[in-house]
Amino acid sequence: MKVRKHWLGLVAGVGLTAFGGLASAAPFGDEASVKLANDLWALMVDKNLAGDNAIITRPYKGMPPHGMILELLELPVTLDGVTGDLVVKRNYGGDGLSIDDVINDPNKYLQAVTIMLKRESGYDAENQDWFYVKYGPDGSILTNPKGAKLAGRVAKGMPTGCIACHKAAPGGDFVFNHDRYK
Ligand code: HEC
Repeated sequence: MKVRKHWLGLVAGVGLTAFGGLASAAPFGDEASVKLANDLWALMVDKNLAGDNAIITRPYKGMPPHGMILELLELPVTLDGVTGDLVVKRNYGGDGLSIDDVINDPNKYLQAVTIMLKRESGYDAENQDWFYVKYGPDGSILTNPKGAKLAGRVAKGMPTGCIACHKAAPGGDFVFNHDRYK
């Protein structure tokens, strides 16, 4: 038993030294962001914002890149001791899809759930402190083409991605649909 524990400790230690610096420097896809994203999904299921018992609203026609039919739900939540506004967007897709198709069988057409969660001030000061995640319909965190998980400050410092595009939202609050969080 003792020996095993010792080895586990050693392996964990080496892992930290080798990757710890890199992981903490990564603006997204790092361990802390992935944990926050997983905890957030659990909270969303608990609050009926995701999962089998999720609240259904009448969807609206959206625009690329998020899909043609969307649903938007918002409320403040507390996660890891930080209270902030949560914007949940359900993205539906399929050829020739209508709003009625979606509302009659949402789970059939749900392709992704994208969220923005306001974190503590200083989380990402120059980008209004938003935390982003792109989930699959089952709550798994989707990845970019390089395999990085889309959770955190996605993709801070890069020319494309959640932050680069949402920066252009009217009102300077990084939210397109309204200016409530200005
Ligand atoms: C190329 C531009 C672009 C990229 C990249 C993008 N979005 Fe958006 N996003 C939009 C637009 C435009 C809207 C508003 C229209 C709509 O609802 O589709 C929007 C809406 C949203 C909303 C609803 C709040 C709002 O701003 O109105 C959320 C949440 C969201 N996006 C999350 C994400 C996440 C998470 C990512 C990255 C994984 C992402 N977005 C990447 C353009 C983008």
